[in-house]
Amino acid sequence: MKKLLLSGFAVIGAATAAAGYKPLRNYYNGPMVDPKIMEHANLKDNVIVITGVSKNGIGYETCKSLLAKNGTIIIGVRDLKKGEATRREILEQVALEENNQNNSKGNIYVMQLDLNDLDSVKHFADEIKEKFKRCDILINNAGISNVPHALSKQNVEIHFGTNHLGHFLLTNLLIDQLKDSKGRVITVASRAHENYYGKTFKLDEVYNNTCHYVPSHYLYARSKFANVLFSKKLDRILAEQSKDELDRCTSYSLHPGLVTSSIGRYSSLMSFVIGTVGRIFGKDLVHGSQTTLHVALADKSQLRGGAYYADCKEKQTNPLANEISIQDELWQTSKVLCAKYLRETD
Ligand SMILES: NC(=O)c1ccc[n+]([C@@H]2O[C@H](COP(=O)([O-])OP(=O)(O)OC[C@H]3O[C@@H](n4cnc5c(N)ncnc54)[C@H](OP(=O)(O)O)[C@@H]3O)[C@@H](O)[C@H]2O)c1
Repeated sequence: MKKLLLSGFAVIGAATAAAGYKPLRNYYNGPMVDPKIMEHANLKDNVIVITGVSKNGIGYETCKSLLAKNGTIIIGVRDLKKGEATRREILEQVALEENNQNNSKGNIYVMQLDLNDLDSVKHFADEIKEKFKRCDILINNAGISNVPHALSKQNVEIHFGTNHLGHFLLTNLLIDQLKDSKGRVITVASRAHENYYGKTFKLDEVYNNTCHYVPSHYLYARSKFANVLFSKKLDRILAEQSKDELDRCTSYSLHPGLVTSSIGRYSSLMSFVIGTVGRIFGKDLVHGSQTTLHVALADKSQLRGGAYYADCKEKQTNPLANEISIQDELWQTSKVLCAKYLRETD
């Protein structure tokens, strides 16, 4: 079966090459952000927090573009030494792209963050509040996919813990700052969320349960489904709390595309999908960052709170993601798991 699949891809790949590589590459890369949006964007005095910014990742390209728009960017990384190197490289690249004149008024600050450990998330949020006082855009970008079955530091299934719960806590800890600036919470989900058909998020399904009987790609799909549910529920809460529907903090989720990043490094199946299929039919990193940039920079009148985006447009989600009862159950379970770190009013 694997042989048949491989030869199928080889034939399509050869056909792609023969049919003229560049037009097809443009087609698979998908759209760039509307140039008018890029032209008018100015993030001077805006504090932007992005999780998971590493070389060969979508967060790296996102950070680069937002820095070029004068943003003050905080990158949350697991490894500070690697993060410092990433910071220097992005600053150099942005300066180079601006004809050797670093016109950007932005800067990048590197802070330690391990989303797999809620203590680390709390520490990261406290440091941001203490040093920067504000937060205008939070980009929940970091993620893992198809890792071996395991639990997080607080005994939560590892995909759910890293991709959803760490971001759930981070967002809630920064929500006052985001509300004060009428900011945006952007959660990088995935089209993989469509492959999840579960209808519950009970505590015992994620806590003290590695779900060893479930394939890890399905656990990834569950965590990405949680990203979409979380984003919709958050936007409902923000809308209820705000007097002004048009001028308030908003939440969006998105699918970046099949992107040739490092996401496949944890499993041979994903590495094959990203390295082979992704290289032919997927997006490069620059194009993979476009939907995040669209949602971060477009005027809010062009966006819809709670909506899900792909290819810089609003898209439909798995219909189950609209079910209020599932959104509410996920929120409740997440709150219980983060109770130690949240105020009773959250
Ligand atoms: N690539 C795709 O085709 C694709 C498709 C759909 C959705 N996505 C989503 O896009 C987002 C970005 O992924 P990517 O493709 O750019 O993958 P990537 O290259 O693997 O980048 C993931 C980033 O997340 C960080 N990270 C992982 N675990 C972390 C933790 N416990 N604490 C803090 N940071 C952590 C990684 O840091 P390290 O460098 O320390 O590992 C890395 O910076 C993810 O949410 C992913 O699910 C990707």
